Amino acid sequence: MKDYGDADVEKYVIEGGKALNGEVHISGAKNAAVAILPAVLLSESPCVIENLPDISDVNLILKTMEKLGAKVKKINESTVEIDPSAVNSYIVTKDMSSGMRASSYFLGALLGRMNKAKVAPPGGCDFGVRPIDQHIKGFEAMGAAVSCENDMVVCRAKELNGNYIYLDMVTVGATINIMLAAVKAKGMTVIENAAREPHIVDLANFLNSMGANIMGAGTNVIKIRGVEKLYGTTYHIIPDQIEAGTYMVAAAATRGDVTINNVTPKHLESIIAKLIETGASVYQYDESVRVKMDKRPRRCQVKTMPHPGFPTDMQPQIATLLSIADGDSIVTEGVWDNRFRYVEELKKMGAEIKVEGKRAIITGKESLVSACVKATDLRAGAAMVIAGLMTEGKTTVEDILYIDRGYEDLVEKLTSLGASIRRVSE
Ligand code: EPU
Repeated sequence: MKDYGDADVEKYVIEGGKALNGEVHISGAKNAAVAILPAVLLSESPCVIENLPDISDVNLILKTMEKLGAKVKKINESTVEIDPSAVNSYIVTKDMSSGMRASSYFLGALLGRMNKAKVAPPGGCDFGVRPIDQHIKGFEAMGAAVSCENDMVVCRAKELNGNYIYLDMVTVGATINIMLAAVKAKGMTVIENAAREPHIVDLANFLNSMGANIMGAGTNVIKIRGVEKLYGTTYHIIPDQIEAGTYMVAAAATRGDVTINNVTPKHLESIIAKLIETGASVYQYDESVRVKMDKRPRRCQVKTMPHPGFPTDMQPQIATLLSIADGDSIVTEGVWDNRFRYVEELKKMGAEIKVEGKRAIITGKESLVSACVKATDLRAGAAMVIAGLMTEGKTTVEDILYIDRGYEDLVEKLTSLGASIRRVSE
């Protein structure tokens, strides 16, 4: 596995203005992997997980699982075997999880395994307030007592019982956490207003392949009939929708022609629709999509929404493309309170963007100018890389540790498409 130790002093140097051309292979989905790995803790016997992306978030979760007592064996670059049978700790400290958002999944997984969990509150990218009240509401409905002790979230239950849980908003994290806690609870749990993201379906498929009984994943009502035990399985994680979308936008932004392989085109529909509106040609095949752009993008309106809406995790990337569109565009953020922090960075490159609450009004410029910018979070970082690639001259992207969290082999993949991008130490 890669060592990301120097990421806080490294940066990307991009010589932009070159069209991306060729083929790129998409890795396994980060947001599926970070749910499926903790879910292994619910199994009685070893699981083999294939198509794991080699990214820092995944490696951190594997290390946390080892500290809990799991045996992790690397089979090859993207496959691990995890034996959870010796796990006897239910505590995930802040040091273990580095405040990663997905560490909250250890709450549901450990609660499901041991009827208790003590986990440092999740951090993650800063998009304003990121509460977990809906996760807690779900655990409590199943009979757990939830408290805060020494800055740790503590959940304890004599036994977990299925219940009817209505989520006040569509939340990926709470849907996943409740599924994890419910698979071995007594009786039936119903999650109403559940999230429908591809990684929810992937987690349900994984749990079902271990012997769980989950119905309705991918719709807004998920029904989980508790089972006594779950057993080891071999499972292949779905392709990363957002990594794929990022390369699709990068192809369009550089007026290139890129075939993106190992994708599920169905998961990319909203991104494809918006790219076509901007004037790109998009060709869909069984497991690949080709994006070709030979002109300045057209303006368009984008509103992010839970799946199947346009993904919030593609918002900074599409806004970057629209910053060089012919005309004014409005990008509305429909999921997070504050996901426009990257706009100040894009403005350093000459972008003309006005943020009004949850809307960014973008006046398209002919082109941007190269500059030194920062990755303010994971997807914002990806957007800065796209901005650098589409702009003549030398752009530097700092704080790339955020980008390492979610993009495997970014430099290698972009270089193979003809980009000039280097990772250098300060
Ligand atoms: N929310 C609450 N209460 C809760 C949970 C969520 O108010 O208990 C609110 C949030 O504040 C937000 C909305 O509900 O406004 C949606 O939050 P959600 O729970 O869906 O987000 P998440 O599970 O914390 C995951 C992804 C994010 C992605 C969102 C939305 C992981 C590890 N993270 O976060 O991905 O933006 O879903 O799709 O799966 C990324 O990959 O860059 C990333 C940030």
